[in-house]
Amino acid sequence: MMNILVTGGAGYIGSHACKALAEAGYLPVAYDNMEYGHKWATQWGPLEIGDILDHNRLVEVMDRYDPKAVMHFAAYTYVGESVENPGKYYRNNVAGSLTLLEAMQNRSIQKIIFSSTCATYGIPQCIPLAEDHGQFPISPYGKSKFMIEQMLKDFDEAHGIKFVGLRYFNAAGADPDAEIGEDHNPETHLIPLVLDAAMGKSEGIKIFGTDYDTPDGTCIRDYIHVTDLADAHVKALGYLVKEGKSDFFNLGNGSGFSVREVIENAEKTTQQKIPVIEWQRRPGDPAVLIGSSEKALKILNWQPKYNNLETIIGTAWKWKNKG
Ligand SMILES: NC(=O)c1ccc[n+]([C@@H]2O[C@H](COP(=O)([O-])OP(=O)(O)OC[C@H]3O[C@@H](n4cnc5c(N)ncnc54)[C@H](O)[C@@H]3O)[C@@H](O)[C@H]2O)c1
Repeated sequence: MMNILVTGGAGYIGSHACKALAEAGYLPVAYDNMEYGHKWATQWGPLEIGDILDHNRLVEVMDRYDPKAVMHFAAYTYVGESVENPGKYYRNNVAGSLTLLEAMQNRSIQKIIFSSTCATYGIPQCIPLAEDHGQFPISPYGKSKFMIEQMLKDFDEAHGIKFVGLRYFNAAGADPDAEIGEDHNPETHLIPLVLDAAMGKSEGIKIFGTDYDTPDGTCIRDYIHVTDLADAHVKALGYLVKEGKSDFFNLGNGSGFSVREVIENAEKTTQQKIPVIEWQRRPGDPAVLIGSSEKALKILNWQPKYNNLETIIGTAWKWKNKG
């Protein structure tokens, strides 16, 4: 059995990737400092508590499990916080990833799959966004991920560490078996916030901007089911093992849904009226963000299975109701 080190493996997307890895016959070793991770999310392999900024601890865990590849999810992920406290993001995300790459170099681990983001593109110049769109990230969070992409290219060039960088659009939904799901604190993602409002856990859902140049005036985003994302990671690992070539791929649904569409759909799923609070636009929010995943479909042979909004919201709702 091949061991895979999964940084951030106790987090939302990382834990779904661990499940997908186990189902594909790998042993996922979750490596997480548990700042935002959950013990209950690590059901498919050992959990090693450690920080990606800790070179010695990384090397110790690498020596213990001899992983053949790394899946790197560990990062801070709040865009707004990154604007207020950029140093926190550059330290954790950039210096943390550098420490991880150096530990891999130290232990001759030659493959990494990295969680990048559509935030590396910045304001879209055309829709759908493809991988060759220029990268002009506007937040320190997006910039931190863009810097890591540059480091990956340089470590490949200098040390032969091969990478797949996956630029996700909005991860959403939960494991269809409801064994794991999204549980961020604080939560900033639209679908769990809408479902919390449906459960009466908040006064309602804030819509940031209702005067965008879109059919119903609200922002349109590309939601990709977390289980489809996890599957793409397993496919990317297979690609690295077989082809040994570094590359970047978008992972999105290829179609977008407006904030109002998400709310209407959630009202149908939950059978609840969801109160709406119309609010002003947030700076830096483009009207439409939709990615083209043609490259991943073709080269990774990836085929999203849970890509309609009903399934995305339905699985998230099932998970929330599990208690
Ligand atoms: N959720 C999305 O829509 C989305 C979109 C694009 C990219 N991403 C990227 O995907 C990755 C996973 O996102 P998520 O939503 O699962 O976030 P998450 O917060 O649920 O998971 C991240 C995990 O990393 C851990 N972690 C953070 N810093 C660490 C450190 N220094 N050492 C060890 N562990 C550390 C946290 O404890 C947490 O368990 C992140 O890199 C994020 O930037 C997420």
